[in-house]
Amino acid sequence: MTTAKASGIKLTGSRSGAPAWARRGLLSLQGLAAAELRAVLHKARDLQPLANLTDTRTGDLAGKTIATLFFEDSTRTKTSFTLAARRVSADVIDLPMSTSSVNKGETLIDTARTVEAMGVSAMIVRAKQNGAAAMIAGAVKCPVFNAGDGKHEHPTQGLLDIYTIAEAHERLADFDLSGLTIAIVGDIAASRVARSGIAGMTTLGAKVVCVGPPGMAPASLASLGCRVTHDVDSILPAADAVMMLRIQFERAEGGESKPLAPGALPKATGIVSVHEYRELYGMTVERASRLKDGAIVMHPGPMNRGIEIDGDVADGPRSVIFRQVAHGVTVRMAALIVCG
Ligand code: CP
Repeated sequence: MTTAKASGIKLTGSRSGAPAWARRGLLSLQGLAAAELRAVLHKARDLQPLANLTDTRTGDLAGKTIATLFFEDSTRTKTSFTLAARRVSADVIDLPMSTSSVNKGETLIDTARTVEAMGVSAMIVRAKQNGAAAMIAGAVKCPVFNAGDGKHEHPTQGLLDIYTIAEAHERLADFDLSGLTIAIVGDIAASRVARSGIAGMTTLGAKVVCVGPPGMAPASLASLGCRVTHDVDSILPAADAVMMLRIQFERAEGGESKPLAPGALPKATGIVSVHEYRELYGMTVERASRLKDGAIVMHPGPMNRGIEIDGDVADGPRSVIFRQVAHGVTVRMAALIVCG
């Protein structure tokens, strides 16, 4: 196995001479210029050879302490940010929400200020509320990284998705996505992943098509700069990348307090069952066979195999799902260095 130490690859600095990041932290991709997106993506490209090696320590954030405040569940993002922070040589402290004083009625802002008062260099925040990361960023002095806020944004997921598309379609030199059509399929109205993806991908030149039943892909999404259709089969021959999204049952009306019957879908979708959803919108093996040569299948996770994506597609040759996961560490290392 190649190790960071053995490879001799230099980790700091950028081949691109990309302009410096002028903001504090990373709260959203909406409103970022292409040059700002590229500042992080170019850094990620420089880091990629060593980002997924266990002993990588770049030294960039040596002496810094980064706090993870996840007020909502996560597998990928929390682990990925934690590994990224360690690999850029920061110390990481985790505030476990199951035992935090938020459960005694403390506000997110008081919790964040309390953690900051102990001395941290940056915070990574995930919360159920739209705008929570920005709200905390307005209340603390250190940079805040949005790790997903309600239905609003998940900027580092958007960046890792862009990175994965650029890699698959050989656009790593300049991250120019012109000429590529990216379909995002599923519960887009509830998806922070989609909002960040649409913002970043369109800014870098891609055409984005949102696909789903009207309750999940309403016409109003077009205001974000994408096309909207309810017919997944019509976009398969044109798509260079298809990103399948999970149905966000927990964000549906009556989600947590009134669980849906097993196999039932939220009323707003207009679709009765997960079986019907798979028939109409799922990335089945048959649908995957109708994608053009070179088209990739993506999923931000967590996946519901057999609903929005067949297991054989998720594990098949078009799938880049675990490349997305790997690039998550790379892009988050870059974001911590560039945006911190
Ligand atoms: N993609 C994503 O945000 O996954 P987690 O909820 O597991 O972090």
